[in-house]
Amino acid sequence: MTKQYGVSILGTGSFLPPKVLTNADLEKMVQTSDEWITTRTGIKERRIADEKTATSDLAIEASKKALEEAGVKAEEIEEIIVATITPDMFFPSTACYVQKGLGIKSCAAFDIAAACSGFIYGMSIAKTHIETGLYKKVLLIGAETLSKITDWTDRNTCVLFGDGAGAMVLGRSENGENGVLSVFMGADGNYDYLLNMPGGGSRNPCCQKTIDERLNFLKMSGKEVFKVAVTKMVEAAEEALRISGKELKDIALVIPHQANKRIIDAIAKKLDFPLERVFVNLDKYGNVSAATTIIGLDEARKDGTVKKGDLVELVAFGGGFTWGATLIKL
Ligand code: COA
Repeated sequence: MTKQYGVSILGTGSFLPPKVLTNADLEKMVQTSDEWITTRTGIKERRIADEKTATSDLAIEASKKALEEAGVKAEEIEEIIVATITPDMFFPSTACYVQKGLGIKSCAAFDIAAACSGFIYGMSIAKTHIETGLYKKVLLIGAETLSKITDWTDRNTCVLFGDGAGAMVLGRSENGENGVLSVFMGADGNYDYLLNMPGGGSRNPCCQKTIDERLNFLKMSGKEVFKVAVTKMVEAAEEALRISGKELKDIALVIPHQANKRIIDAIAKKLDFPLERVFVNLDKYGNVSAATTIIGLDEARKDGTVKKGDLVELVAFGGGFTWGATLIKL
């Protein structure tokens, strides 16, 4: 594949639904405590979409902000990619609903399912399509309403997840410089049983039995996931760095997937990277799956944690298992 053009990150945006669910609220719903959740995960609260809000609604709001910052009109977008495990429906794709919501008459639009690594996987598609000249402007979104697939009677999982969306407008760079230096992706389907939603698909179509057995909710074996998450995110961070030809000391900020503060601390330790340069917002939002790293990037850009020209690495891990990392220059 010929690389003809550089890629620029033109703008980012994020949107979190206003309703806050605190650890104290959860204490009234399941047998848990603020103390347990805080010490075992680092999460204090998460955002929850209301009944009428679907994933595309959050994605559209985040996209509007990213387009505005980029100074790009919606009709200039030639491709919309939505990374999500909580699509509005099986089909049409959530990306088609975003297209409709933004009033774009004609463009490519599709979803990708790589769980929490979805935004990183999407970066590889956006990067390649711009570098090869297929498209000049791409809208890449990570958006989730995980509250809709959360079993609110299961204390093992319901304290961990939240809703939200982040968006990025990528375009052909004017000076030929490349703002997306590398993308590394990995997966191992042998770990399918540790993190999944068994019901509702073609394996176990939705029926009374799947509802009675609560199969239409996310299931996770936390302890087992924890160990692999640390190993694979370290591997992904190192691989994306190696491909880019840069060194760890050049990186201004690492934005890891926000599943558990103990996982983040373990990654920083294994990479021998200072915790002060590792982004954390899981205390406010919990784990927002595919939306996590792009919400983090948007917040870090907006609050001045990172500035133009900085090197930032996004690293993620999720169901599949999947994992990945991307090194970007703002
Ligand atoms: N409140 C109180 N107690 C809880 C609880 C809760 N919300 N959830 C679980 N517990 C209990 C368990 O029942 C268990 O009790 P037991 O020892 O009597 O059986 C005990 O706490 C310890 O459970 P354990 O699963 O060993 O805890 P942990 O330290 O592994 O923490 C997770 C659990 C889920 C927070 C942690 O494993 C984790 O973050 N896993 C990775 C998640 C991840 O990376 N996801 C990424 C992809 S989305």
